[in-house]
Amino acid sequence: MMKIQVIATTKLILSLSFSLAALNWSVQAAEIQGNAEQGAKNTRLCAGCHAIPGYRSSVPEIYTVPLIGGQSPGYIVAALQAYKKGERKHPTMRSVAGSLSDQDMADLAAYYAAQNSQTKANKLK
Ligand code: HEC
Repeated sequence: MMKIQVIATTKLILSLSFSLAALNWSVQAAEIQGNAEQGAKNTRLCAGCHAIPGYRSSVPEIYTVPLIGGQSPGYIVAALQAYKKGERKHPTMRSVAGSLSDQDMADLAAYYAAQNSQTKANKLK
């Protein structure tokens, strides 16, 4: 009888802490909302390489620089996090991403995701 109670209590505590962890995670995720206007202010960090009007990239001869305008924000954030963590290896992207906070990444992702062929700000995409 005691044993069953202990197990039941342990299960309850475990499920409580799991749901708290899930709650905490969703609160954090909800806090980080990308703001494209903020992101636009940080594009100077990216403009030298990624295609942005007025700044023709000077490095495609050396690197293949992917176009990031119009990609989904989730993909852009995931890529930046992967560079920051070192899961993606490109050295310059690693140092650029390493200087960005989660909020910076979300903002930049919101900005770039909003670019398309009709966007004045990104004629190349
Ligand atoms: C010095 C040049 C350079 C700068 C500056 C730079 N990037 Fe990059 N970026 C690259 C190159 C080259 C790659 C491809 C690297 C690879 O093969 O992993 C890349 C890859 C990426 C990718 C992954 C794209 C994909 O299709 O997987 C994202 C997202 C990205 N950059 C975002 C940014 C953002 C945002 C900034 C500014 C904060 C930035 N980059 C600044 C050169 C640069």
